Amino acid sequence: MAVRSSCSLLLLVLAGAGAGILSVHGDGTPDSTGFLSIDCGLPEKSSYVDAATKLPYVSDAGFTDAGYNRNVSAEYINPSFTKRYLNVRSFPGAKRSCYTLGSLTPGSKYLFRATFMYGNYDGLGKQPAFDLHLGVNFWQTVRIAAADSPEIAEVIAVVQGDSAQVCLVDVGSGTPFISGLDLRPVKGALYPQANATQGLVLHARRNFGPDEVAVVRYPDDPYDRVWLPWSDPAEWKEISTAEAVKGVVGSLFEEPSTVMQTAIVPLNASKSIDFSWDAEPSHVYPDPGYICMLHFAELQRLDSNATRQFDVTINGVPWYHAYTPLYLTSDTIYSGGLHRSSSNYSISIRATANSTLPPTVNAAEVFNVISTASVGTDVQDVAAITAIKANYQVKKNWMGDPCVPKTLSWDGLSCSYGISSPPRIESVNLSFSGLSGDVSFYFAKLKALKYLDLSHNKLTGSIPDVLSQLPSLMVIDLTGNRLNGSIPPGLLKRIQDGSISMRYGDNPNLCSKGDSCETGKKKSNSMLVLYIAVPIVVFVVVGTLALLFFFMRRKKAKSSVKPRDVNDLQLKNRRFTYSELKAMTNNFHQELGKGAFGIVYDGFLKDKTRVAVKLMSESSKQGVGEFLTEAESLTKIHHKNIVTLIGYCKDSGCMALVYEYMSGGTLKDKLRGRDDSTGSLTWRQRLRIALDSAQGLEYLHKACSQRFVHRDVKTANILLDGNLDAKIADFGLLKAFHRDEDTHISQTRVVGTQGYFAPEYVGAERLTEKCDVYSFGVVLLEVITGKPAVMHCPEPTHIITWVRQRLSRGSIEDVVDARVQGGYDANVAWKAADLALKCTEQAPEQRPTMTDVVTQLQECLVLEDGSGGGRDAV
Ligand SMILES: *[C@@H]1O[C@H](CO)[C@@H](O)[C@H](O)[C@H]1NC(C)=O
Ligand SMILES: *[C@@H]1O[C@H](CO)[C@@H](O)[C@H](O)[C@H]1NC(C)=O
Ligand SMILES: *[C@@H]1O[C@H](CO)[C@@H](O)[C@H](O)[C@H]1NC(C)=O
Ligand SMILES: *[C@@H]1O[C@H](CO)[C@@H](O)[C@H](O)[C@H]1NC(C)=O
Ligand SMILES: *[C@@H]1O[C@H](CO)[C@@H](O)[C@H](O)[C@H]1NC(C)=O
Ligand SMILES: *[C@@H]1O[C@H](CO)[C@@H](O)[C@H](O)[C@H]1NC(C)=O
Ligand SMILES: *[C@@H]1O[C@H](CO)[C@@H](O)[C@H](O)[C@H]1NC(C)=O
Ligand SMILES: *[C@@H]1O[C@H](CO)[C@@H](O)[C@H](O)[C@H]1NC(C)=O
Repeated sequence: MAVRSSCSLLLLVLAGAGAGILSVHGDGTPDSTGFLSIDCGLPEKSSYVDAATKLPYVSDAGFTDAGYNRNVSAEYINPSFTKRYLNVRSFPGAKRSCYTLGSLTPGSKYLFRATFMYGNYDGLGKQPAFDLHLGVNFWQTVRIAAADSPEIAEVIAVVQGDSAQVCLVDVGSGTPFISGLDLRPVKGALYPQANATQGLVLHARRNFGPDEVAVVRYPDDPYDRVWLPWSDPAEWKEISTAEAVKGVVGSLFEEPSTVMQTAIVPLNASKSIDFSWDAEPSHVYPDPGYICMLHFAELQRLDSNATRQFDVTINGVPWYHAYTPLYLTSDTIYSGGLHRSSSNYSISIRATANSTLPPTVNAAEVFNVISTASVGTDVQDVAAITAIKANYQVKKNWMGDPCVPKTLSWDGLSCSYGISSPPRIESVNLSFSGLSGDVSFYFAKLKALKYLDLSHNKLTGSIPDVLSQLPSLMVIDLTGNRLNGSIPPGLLKRIQDGSISMRYGDNPNLCSKGDSCETGKKKSNSMLVLYIAVPIVVFVVVGTLALLFFFMRRKKAKSSVKPRDVNDLQLKNRRFTYSELKAMTNNFHQELGKGAFGIVYDGFLKDKTRVAVKLMSESSKQGVGEFLTEAESLTKIHHKNIVTLIGYCKDSGCMALVYEYMSGGTLKDKLRGRDDSTGSLTWRQRLRIALDSAQGLEYLHKACSQRFVHRDVKTANILLDGNLDAKIADFGLLKAFHRDEDTHISQTRVVGTQGYFAPEYVGAERLTEKCDVYSFGVVLLEVITGKPAVMHCPEPTHIITWVRQRLSRGSIEDVVDARVQGGYDANVAWKAADLALKCTEQAPEQRPTMTDVVTQLQECLVLEDGSGGGRDAV
């Protein structure tokens, strides 16, 4: 049959002999393998056989863990309703509630049908409207028109995975509910317009002819499509045959014979057959297009001189010209693409001039098209997070896809949305979620995970080392749980190389060995709660414990508690005696500087590792607290821009901390040129040092869920290593504070260094991260200018005033350290100076955060590199 229509949408199945082949069961019914028939709201474990189709219906309990079973009101219990309509499952209070249908064949086509009969089940007498999603894609809006009128939603779609979700989404127009859910496999060749990226949502499926109510379903339709009868005795006359109607070979629709055995012709043979429908826009598809299928078969044996031939138009536009139905063989005119019109669609079937018989039609289907192109979250991530959800019985909005659509993504997760790849779960925050049991190893299956916050739960057991195999993992927070065991070696390594920062404070049983835990319990009534941990861990744990015991012993003068059985040889080496310290420092020969609580000495470990030994002056009572604070704080902080703690002294004769040696000395000395041998810092080196220090501070402020304010940021507390990588040092003044508390802390005692105080700190003794930002601004000005924070030239002048004055004259050259010798991009210098001045704004809220500062400094470096202005050798 030649396609003569000019309409490009038109496709026609070529006619041929032979019947569609159905797979038929021994009992004569078509194969129903893969059918899933769910009566939503049916009590758990119940099932029954549907009277009309003889298909078994089961309770929905195994397919969703959300919602409540409800019965419809008594007045709507009507024997003419199928049993499915007598109960519903409703989902009050949930934004999205889903059914998961499993055991599907990936890439296969399925028909999904959801049914809704309100029946005033909630006694509110108010018909709701809500959205239906197929997986992550909008399917349709369900609008309940009347309490006793069932709504049917159907979509034919290709599923990507081995399961599919049907979700009800609350759109604020009443509580979603559902009566029934059917899943039917459909041969892949059928309904070719349904493919991997688009689905067909049923608008109408009509069986023309029968005037008594007879819905055709399974087993007459092997796919259990629902064909509703349509007759109009005022316009149409039914014609029918008792003979079976076969499908054409390779039929794309496999219309049931029962449906095709009836048809209509116009009562007035010279009239056309007309029907129409209104477009149903939704908030997702405000201008939907439609796809139609008209199914034809000639039911009457025609005389040789008789012809039935007709034209089909849609909205007055020719769609198919001079079509003649095939005798007892069903064939279809269907759209390959969308018909679009403003709001109203009408189809007209009219006999041609050559036709001796009126037009006819047997059945029609109308669909609108939805995109199924949105892809869900990476399947491995979904599997892992689903297992985590099940493991911890997470009670959140954890329904449907974790990341898609963004508006419905799961609480506590954040995802990355790639352009050509499925979304990945990037951070999981389950803090304060009441989790108990082990740290699930499924977390280690979230391969794109960067942040994991499990703080403040009741997690027990040990920390799984598999977490260390997550390539992108940067932050783990396990604070405030009941974990035991020690930090496993893989994680320890990642912590030490700076690729993971981990917080694990407030886990009283977390330790290096069961034995130390015992001793850990004994000290629990101590006034200082020491965080037990193992970074560089293990060293510090034992160190802080030892320090504590040391102090307790001094107080009680008799306790002889000592940590037992530290099985790690390396650890023993990190517990230094006073005499070891003495040997290490060549009898405290070389002073490196003075810290907040004592003197810092140069030293070497036995393996020739150079260290800095901070020896506390025994007399300083005030220092004890600060010393312990420092030890305590350091156990929780690990970052490449923060100085590493190597060991401690546990002898009664000493109280000391041993740090990695920073061969570059302090930034202060470097800037003042005290260290002349290496010459002055280049502009680029200065920017890098500023960026390193900013990152260290940002980490203190941000990366830990328990945040820190350094309180004494100054160039003397920024140390440089041999490569001029900068690290933040001296936490003697650190004070941890929790974000849940006030955002500031009042100190009874002002600590800090003249010239670096933020104004509000000096005035009100109030302390926030913005104080550090202020101090950092001063540091940055020093880095730019090479001048000290307070100059005496001849009047005491603060560097901020000095810089502002010069910049107000528009001169950056007067500001940048002359020793840089022009080797800088003036724009970058302006940007850096501007940033420093923003940091030192009077009002704390006008200062940027350290995160902003880091970003700005990164930009400075990029600009500098791009400008080629730097003549920097590094
Ligand atoms: C619904 O009605 C049936 C009896 O018709 C009863 O067994 C069942 O408990 C009712 N369910 C609810 C949720 O009220
Ligand atoms: C699905 O069909 C639409 C319309 O014909 C087409 O644009 C799209 O590329 C098809 N998708 C696939 C995956 O074949
Ligand atoms: C049939 O339809 C034609 C054209 O619409 C009209 O002229 C004619 O009167 C109609 N016949 C009857 C019997 O209604
Ligand atoms: C067709 O032929 C039959 C006889 O075979 C005759 O009765 C009938 O009127 C003819 N019809 C037409 C439309 O010519
Ligand atoms: C749609 O078109 C049909 C036929 O043209 C007409 O009967 C019907 O009233 C129209 N509906 C609307 C809403 O315009
Ligand atoms: C109608 O019949 C005439 C004469 O038999 C023929 O030439 C013409 O092609 C036919 N038209 C159609 C649309 O079949
Ligand atoms: C996790 O959520 C809690 C609130 O539930 C919040 O306080 C905390 O900062 C979040 N953690 C991260 C890393 O965002
Ligand atoms: C850690 O806790 C788990 C569960 O609470 C327990 O089974 C295990 O024995 C504990 N391990 C140690 C070393 O205490």
